Amino acid sequence: MARGNDGNPARQRTRNDSAASKITKSTNGRYKNVHGNLQARQNLWEDKQMKNALKNDKVGEIVVDSEKYDFVFDTDSMIDFTNNDANGGGEDDEYDEKLYLALEEESKRVRSIKESRKKLPVFQYREQLLNIIKENQVVIIVGETGSGKTTQLPQYLVEEGFTKGNKFQVAVTQPRRVAATSVASRVADEMEVELGKEVGYSIRFDDKTTPGKTILKYMTDGMLLREFLADPEVNKYSCIMIDEAHERTIASDLLLGLLKTVLGKRPDLRVIISSATMNAMKFSEFFDKCPIFNVPGRRYPVDIHYTVQPESNYVNAAITTIFQIHTTQPIPGDILVFLTGQDEIETMKDKVESILSKLGSRIPQMIITPIYANLPQEQQARIFTKTPDNCRKVVLATNIAETSLTIDGIKYVIDPGFVKENTYVPSTGMTQLLTVPCSKASVDQRAGRAGRVGPGKCFRLFTKWTYSNELEMMPKPEILRTNLSQTVLLLLSLGVKDLLNFPLLDKPTIPSLKKSLENLYGLGALNSKGQITQLGKIITEFPCEPEFAKVLYSAAMDPKCEGVLEECLTIVSMLHETTSLFVGLKKEAVATITGHVDSDHMLYLDIYNQWKNAGYARSWCQDHKIQFKTISRVKNIRRQLDICCKKLKIKRNVPLQDTDVSARIIKAFISGFPSNIVRLGATGYTTVGKNSGGLTIYIHPSSIVFQNYKEAGKPAKYILYQQLMLTSKEYIRDCLPVPDDEWLHEMVPQIFTNKNQ
Ligand code: CDP
Ligand code: MG
Repeated sequence: MARGNDGNPARQRTRNDSAASKITKSTNGRYKNVHGNLQARQNLWEDKQMKNALKNDKVGEIVVDSEKYDFVFDTDSMIDFTNNDANGGGEDDEYDEKLYLALEEESKRVRSIKESRKKLPVFQYREQLLNIIKENQVVIIVGETGSGKTTQLPQYLVEEGFTKGNKFQVAVTQPRRVAATSVASRVADEMEVELGKEVGYSIRFDDKTTPGKTILKYMTDGMLLREFLADPEVNKYSCIMIDEAHERTIASDLLLGLLKTVLGKRPDLRVIISSATMNAMKFSEFFDKCPIFNVPGRRYPVDIHYTVQPESNYVNAAITTIFQIHTTQPIPGDILVFLTGQDEIETMKDKVESILSKLGSRIPQMIITPIYANLPQEQQARIFTKTPDNCRKVVLATNIAETSLTIDGIKYVIDPGFVKENTYVPSTGMTQLLTVPCSKASVDQRAGRAGRVGPGKCFRLFTKWTYSNELEMMPKPEILRTNLSQTVLLLLSLGVKDLLNFPLLDKPTIPSLKKSLENLYGLGALNSKGQITQLGKIITEFPCEPEFAKVLYSAAMDPKCEGVLEECLTIVSMLHETTSLFVGLKKEAVATITGHVDSDHMLYLDIYNQWKNAGYARSWCQDHKIQFKTISRVKNIRRQLDICCKKLKIKRNVPLQDTDVSARIIKAFISGFPSNIVRLGATGYTTVGKNSGGLTIYIHPSSIVFQNYKEAGKPAKYILYQQLMLTSKEYIRDCLPVPDDEWLHEMVPQIFTNKNQ
């Protein structure tokens, strides 16, 4: 209904507008509000009308300059009069007409969705696919991105009765939150149901499903993994589809292992593993040579271009390439640029927009749409809206656009060939977020994105030599490069005793397993025999990393720092969302919010409390350059962690008198992150720890601690950090100075054996 209302009445009204206003708008040429689709549509309509009008002899002599504009009578500008007596009836008529138009538009939209469903490559294999799924417990489905695996297959299963009587559900896992939510909403639309009812999604801290009603559930792989804890045989599902399995996230690898062990107990369960073209054989081998079904996709040829010389600054090179394409290649033809993360995307967006505003109307119009995991949901939807005529859309995306999301209309791909990857170094016990070259499989997949609607071009910002000689064949599976603490804890709590023989596509290395067992022992989650402790069980129940769970536990229960659960709930929740908390620069926002604070942690606490005191108002966020959506998410995360504490009977705060709240908060964080500590030495901060000391690190300029020290504050001897990031230097982000060495010894004597360490 809303859809119909938005365009038509406005268009009707425009028909009665004066010719002058049409001229003024159309002479501006460019759409003022490139983000407002409605505005653009309206302008387009006006432009078209204007062109028609100018073709028409009657109004041909209208002079564009409005001062010289003379009144010309034309039938279009006749005023509509309504009979007073028929007033009520007139409104009815208008309402009826609006309703009619709305219904017409909606049914047109539904018809076109139905038509386009039939055009997707999987459609012609519907029966074959359903048969092979019925006949085999596990099937691997391989198909080009955009062929309809994610959106269509699950609907076929529902249509075929896999969820009959709402007794069973179909689950589809996604490695990324954005993919789970956006695909669920698309499928709800296709099935003509409200999102959250028959079709829903479940991602961490956000569950949009209705128990007893939801039959098709899109979820992150991590969420399904958690469900195994409550129900090891996943009895509520008749079919589980592990989508994007080629991404090889830890969670999906573990799911494959768990499903393999469940199959014997659930002969009725069907498992579909869907993957882009890479490494399907490996999955088949893993599931005793189960069948692979290939969905032949359409793919047009893509011309690959390389740079002649290596590019030192790929962001600048990408910007140049965008304008090169824009000014030399025909429209329509949208551009997709692969970047490594939010910061890079936002920086590039600003740069491109400022160049655009300088060039003004000298070049055709361009719309820049970013897409990354932390982008607010309503902005994510913009990448799917159709590009207006005579305009080019430039999508700045992270790896998410490589396979998980399909954007129609892309003809040009710009690929710098990098990706941000978490890499855990067991010898130092640290996770680093590194920007690394992509694998060959990834860059080929990216290039393919240009050939969906027609022949396309891919501009690689590296040399052909690099492609042939330097890139790895395949991306490294996450299980071989991340901290396994959470994984090990989860497997142990699922009752898996023999970690080394648990079925996995790739086995983690012994040093990394050993390190994670040590970590868990350090947190008190395992005992010296490697068995899970009571505390370990509690930690597993929390929907967050074990380290954060330990912080919350200590803040409530550890006599050395109890009484600060409320504060720690807030800080932990804020730390989940700091990457998109501020509008613009953190420094500028902070200046409007708070006086002196010693740490990022206390800053986040202060921000949240001020917002809370302002009644959680949107206006407070606007005044202080805080993203309202993000901090609202923080509130939701906080609520869920709080519910979890209550469920686990973690005792409430007792108001403390005469105690140093901030000291207790710091101690609680030390208990959770004993390995994330750096010490000040002669040459700056270095890492500490039994086997992992000595790495020089720097405080990231965005940290409040960096600001404080710049303004002549005295550096603390120890700093606890939340994130270590290697870019040009090794930076720590979100820093909490530890003012008293003794606290380290007090909280984690096993690491800080004496106070002089
Ligand atoms: O999973 P696969 O890559 O095989 O394809 P899909 O995600 O099921 O996409 C099938 C079609 O649905 C594509 O043509 C997409 O453009 C369309 N789609 C969409 O319009 N909006 C979404 N949020 C998701 C998919
Ligand atoms: Mg898909």
